[in-house]
Amino acid sequence: MNACLRAVVRAGIHSGLTVVGVYRGYTGLIAGETGELNLSSVSGIIHRGGTIIRTGRCPEFFHPEGRERAYRTLEAQGIEGLIVIGGNGSYQGAWLLHQEWGVPVIGVPGTIDNDIAGTDYTIGFDTAVETAVACIDKIRDTADSHERIFVVEVMGRHAGFIALETALAGGAEAVLVPEYPEFTGEDVCTRLEAGKRRGKRSFIVVVAEGAASGVEVARLIAERTGAETRATVLGHLQRGGSPTVDDRVLGSRCGAAAVEALRAGETAKMVCQRANEIVLADLEIAWQQKKPLDRALYELVNVLGS
Ligand code: F6P
Repeated sequence: MNACLRAVVRAGIHSGLTVVGVYRGYTGLIAGETGELNLSSVSGIIHRGGTIIRTGRCPEFFHPEGRERAYRTLEAQGIEGLIVIGGNGSYQGAWLLHQEWGVPVIGVPGTIDNDIAGTDYTIGFDTAVETAVACIDKIRDTADSHERIFVVEVMGRHAGFIALETALAGGAEAVLVPEYPEFTGEDVCTRLEAGKRRGKRSFIVVVAEGAASGVEVARLIAERTGAETRATVLGHLQRGGSPTVDDRVLGSRCGAAAVEALRAGETAKMVCQRANEIVLADLEIAWQQKKPLDRALYELVNVLGS
């Protein structure tokens, strides 16, 4: 997100605009916590995880009174357009602000979950997967040496994008994702037993948090197969750390494109990456459509992991 913020500030100033940062997301917008950002406000941040303007979940913004207060902040400070970096919830809030108060809004996809329809990737996803794969590489050392089965639970909320790419790149034997619930913990056991008969001594199973609990799946495998299992829940490790090159490039491109969109008079749009092009799409797509999980990639994990 810092790469994106840096791009918004610098591209905005380059175009002759004044750029104001809103601290702590919609909470700060309601409370009037803003401040002008200049070129040096965003120096030395492109390699840092998180966001220097901080963020927060803001239930108040889902009430009309909250949005009115947010609008009053914008009005009082002469802010003429809003760029929102976030996921579906943030987009819905922005859209309502646009509908109710006519505020020009542009969304930028920022979530590790990669679950926003309309864009191939979201800022943070690549870094989260890179971290998860690095963890699996380390876990595999113990799995191999001790001949154990490891179940690694990854984030993703209700979606399996992190789990799928992590499983493929981490060489996992199986993956459980919410999009394909027909493949269950029991099926994992069957596959693991078949592998064992062929002489396989260690296994990695990736579980999306939206599909099952990693601890429960590990318990089930131990019960069914008698194997020694361990569960690792990666949790918030996946949301921090220095961003990957892909995330820095995506963040920079999206930030600059969001400024361009506002300058061109666009509103209620989101900036998306499609086939490596940066394009605009209607903001509503984000919550009206469900982003499909690539079935071919899922099959590939199963073929390669069997
Ligand atoms: O949406 C991003 C995400 O990291 C999800 O993958 C995860 O389920 C959730 O946020 C965690 O939220 P919190 O930090 O509020 O516990």
